[in-house]
Amino acid sequence: MYPIIKKEKLADKIYLMDVKAERVAKSAKPGQFVIVKIDEEGERIPLTICDYDEKAGTVTIVFQTVGASTERMAYLEEGDTFQDFVGPLGCPSDLIEEDIEELKKKKIVFIAGGVGTAPMLYLGEQLAKNGHKPTFLLGARSDKDLLQLEEFVKYGEVYTTTEDGSHGEKGYVTQHSILNKVNFEQIYTCGPKPMMISVAKYAKSKGINCEVSLENMMACGIGACLCCVENTTEGHLCVCKEGPVFNINKLLWQI
Ligand code: FES
Repeated sequence: MYPIIKKEKLADKIYLMDVKAERVAKSAKPGQFVIVKIDEEGERIPLTICDYDEKAGTVTIVFQTVGASTERMAYLEEGDTFQDFVGPLGCPSDLIEEDIEELKKKKIVFIAGGVGTAPMLYLGEQLAKNGHKPTFLLGARSDKDLLQLEEFVKYGEVYTTTEDGSHGEKGYVTQHSILNKVNFEQIYTCGPKPMMISVAKYAKSKGINCEVSLENMMACGIGACLCCVENTTEGHLCVCKEGPVFNINKLLWQI
């Protein structure tokens, strides 16, 4: 059993949990994910690892209530447990493997929306610790949906867009004026698929290297059930095993 050590409501229908899962915390890397299950009746829910603390043996997950299973998860409180907490699954982000001195020379922007912002915070934190100051461009429907802004500002420059104009520039992330002012060389993006597609389009039109973190439907998490396949230049690849982070040049999206 995997107890919930901390639960926090970040925004309407969006929650953060620290879960005690020592083995996962010990081997987790940024970009990887876990599959959680509350109990025998519960569905298997894939969630990106947003952070982990090897010493405390905890893993941080952030989720949005989008259906019956995540609604049930939202009712769990500190001290309640998950029956399964399987991971770490998937491949770590290349970003962490790259030479930090090379990274420092690059203008990197993390573009994210909705719960997709949570894993970007951790990646940004890792860069900041190594002396790089990344840029974060975060989008949401309104100011109430922008997550952990006070955390993001600790690690880099933060720009926001909201659809109703209640925070930052009004519109979508790809319309933000910072994209016209700075020649970014590397984009990492995570969030709703339509947002990632428009970020990918933007990156391609400007010739910017771009990596997306896919959130395809998943069940087994180990490349066995094939429910997560993505059409790529290398054929059908399992997002759970070969991803979830892909370079846009590998994806056969209409961009
Ligand atoms: Fe089963 Fe990817 S989730 S193959």
